[in-house]
Amino acid sequence: MKKYDIKDIKLAADGKNRIEWAERNMPVLRLIREDFTKKKPLAGQTLAACLHVTSETANLLITLKAGGARVVTCASNPLSTQDDVAAALVKYYGIPTYAVKGESNKVYYSHILMALDHKPTLTMDDGADTVSVIHKTHRHLIPGIIGGTEETTTGVIRLKAMEKEGVLEYPIMAVNEAMTKHLFDNRYGTGQSTLDGVLRATNILLAGSTLVIAGYGWCGKGLAMRGKGAGANVIVTEVDPVKALEAKMDGFMVMPMIEAAPRGDLFITVTGDINVIRGEHFLKMKDNAIVANSGHFNVEIDIPALEKIAAAKKEVKPFVVEYRLKSGRRVNVLAEGRLVNLASAEGHPSMVMDMSFANQAKGAEYMVANHSRLEKKVYDVPLDIDRRIAEIKLKSMGVNLEKLTAQQEKYLNSWQEGT
Ligand code: ADE
Repeated sequence: MKKYDIKDIKLAADGKNRIEWAERNMPVLRLIREDFTKKKPLAGQTLAACLHVTSETANLLITLKAGGARVVTCASNPLSTQDDVAAALVKYYGIPTYAVKGESNKVYYSHILMALDHKPTLTMDDGADTVSVIHKTHRHLIPGIIGGTEETTTGVIRLKAMEKEGVLEYPIMAVNEAMTKHLFDNRYGTGQSTLDGVLRATNILLAGSTLVIAGYGWCGKGLAMRGKGAGANVIVTEVDPVKALEAKMDGFMVMPMIEAAPRGDLFITVTGDINVIRGEHFLKMKDNAIVANSGHFNVEIDIPALEKIAAAKKEVKPFVVEYRLKSGRRVNVLAEGRLVNLASAEGHPSMVMDMSFANQAKGAEYMVANHSRLEKKVYDVPLDIDRRIAEIKLKSMGVNLEKLTAQQEKYLNSWQEGT
């Protein structure tokens, strides 16, 4: 069994500093860690975490270890690993880590297999790749697994498809569905970190530019809000009539991609679907248009179609590849169409990952305590966990809640009183 596979162990000291910096803005996870250290709710478990290997994830893994689990980790995306953090996890925290920024798809999957060599009893995914590999080729592990958790919208969609087909073999807690996850991480996290990724890669001016956002889910909403705040003219493309209506009433232009294509300066996909920007769209774009993705998988931008219609291609700076079309117009693709916020920036800020990962830690604890009565289904995080995380977060921000008076409590529980 390989103990670890990382870029360079000498990066560990930098990684440790980065992990400690993130921890300052993760008060909810810190409280959970204190509690886990005392109670050891994960004792006896081996947890394989296939997550973006960042300083925030490191704080989650350290918390899970404090809870008594043996923890191993691998990347959930070939471009999202922070190599210094991976080194620190190995050197200072004793967590076997298999992740190298820029790894090929082949190495990416080999890293998942290395994590599975540890024979996990619990899985923790961001995108459901571990669950998928286990169900396809590592079914011998299934009898030993009590359950798993899933971080992201795309992963939850995949797992619900497995449940619907009757092929899911163990229960999963859908962390993404917690309100203290998607309302904050997807909206404020993606909103800020995606623009951060685009700006670090390109240094373009957003003010006065036209930003086309494909998808108006929670990620798209956050992105549109932040784009508008930075002075961009925002166009939204949507397939869902209710979401499209919401975008329109939020003050954005709404139109199909084929109409948005000639207008946009910057295009960002956050739909979770395949081939959202295709050959016919690239052909209509202005010279020097920039295209990026912040959805989980690198399938939203049809890069193979772009390769076909391009006359030339070159890397103009890190994370920016320019395709020159036969017309002479240039289309720039960021981060190979992979998650731009994690590839060319550092992902969501710690302040927001604090809540997402508090749900992960509490979700794992819940799974251990309740797995024997759970079915092979995808479960939401219980509401009391969600509310508790919101309460602790508010407290850490110095915000107090209003309290119901006895009279208000009675009023809310009665049906007799009207006007
Ligand atoms: N997903 C988005 N941002 C992240 C971060 N900073 N760490 C881990 N996973 C993330």
